[in-house]
Amino acid sequence: MAIRKIRTEEDAILRKKSRIVENFDEKLWDLLDDMKETMYQAEGVGLAAVQVGILRRVVVIDVGDGLIELVNPEIVERSEEVQHETEGCLSLPGKFGVTERPKSVIVKAQNREGKWCLYKGEGLKARCFCHEIDHLDGILYTSHVIGELESN
Ligand code: NI
Repeated sequence: MAIRKIRTEEDAILRKKSRIVENFDEKLWDLLDDMKETMYQAEGVGLAAVQVGILRRVVVIDVGDGLIELVNPEIVERSEEVQHETEGCLSLPGKFGVTERPKSVIVKAQNREGKWCLYKGEGLKARCFCHEIDHLDGILYTSHVIGELESN
């Protein structure tokens, strides 16, 4: 495993759309392992492959209850009820803002073997699913910020 470099805001790759994963091979598993290590080292709760410069639809998440690996994830259900909480991103260090997100979501994704699974997220996990899946379409959380983006 290796720590990969996290791309930051000025890098145009963050605005690009990631491609579907078709091969569930060692190259994917290495990417997932490196993303996990990179996320933990940076003390983040989620990381999308584009953030380490790979335009593939791959995400890792750990909000404190264990690692989730999402390949080709899609949000299949979102609650009408919303939450307004503070959000940040490893690619925009030192910035944060309050976003509007659904309170809960259901995500469909493949695991590293290619098997489809469903995941339910509420609160922080729902925000995290939305945030990371947005990254795969080149969307940053700043487009969901209500009010001002702040710096610390
Ligand atoms: Ni992010």
